[in-house]
Amino acid sequence: MRKITIAIDGYSSTGKSTIAKELASALNYIYVDTGAMYRAITLFALENNCITNGIIDQNKLIDLLPKAKLKFRLNKELGYSEMFLNRNNVEKEIRSMRVSKQVSKISVIPEVRAKLVSMQKKMGKKKGIVMDGRDIGTVVFPDAEFKIFMTASPDIRASRRYKELISKGEKVTYEEVLKNVRERDYIDSNRLSSPLLKAEDAIEFDNSDMGLKEQFERIHYYTLQVIEKQKKNA
Ligand code: DC
Repeated sequence: MRKITIAIDGYSSTGKSTIAKELASALNYIYVDTGAMYRAITLFALENNCITNGIIDQNKLIDLLPKAKLKFRLNKELGYSEMFLNRNNVEKEIRSMRVSKQVSKISVIPEVRAKLVSMQKKMGKKKGIVMDGRDIGTVVFPDAEFKIFMTASPDIRASRRYKELISKGEKVTYEEVLKNVRERDYIDSNRLSSPLLKAEDAIEFDNSDMGLKEQFERIHYYTLQVIEKQKKNA
């Protein structure tokens, strides 16, 4: 079957990666979580003292950027890829609040975006990919055959994220998580370089009142329709 490119964008904690992962596995496609790449660069910035009291030393980070080697490696037991930064598995650290608090500020830096977007474009050259992020349908793969833009209310997203963090043993309050979700929405949507925008040809998918099973079934159904249409047009 002819493979397509699937771009899933949307606000933070809308469950993009859960759906993208499931969809990739159902279609036997590659899954790429681009948020993990921005998070890994943020961890790199923290570890190399490029962030002091929340202030970013952009020039220092830009100079050091070539030293940040990112790689996704498949974890066969889990069935999906994990993020490695300079040969270390950083999956757990990049999901912490310490990284979440700084990541939107790191993502506005054009040099960071240029490095990551170029890697992402290479990963998608052969199609058969589900990529999630903020600018996938607009910048990384403007020609993707299927684009989804996920939304949900900030309260719902914060409460989902809060439960996830607590289950991983993080000590956070719901208010702190909600504040972080709102701040990231603001920075992601208002930055100059590739702001979070719904691509004109993306379908908007509000999952505020939808469980995972229903979301997956609907998106899977739409995807199969798109693949079928591509086949007919080929
Ligand atoms: O999807 P996430 O919450 O893990 O993403 C973390 C941050 O990375 C998010 O606040 C914005 C940034 N990001 C981005 O700017 N562009 C992307 N393609 C993916 C993520």
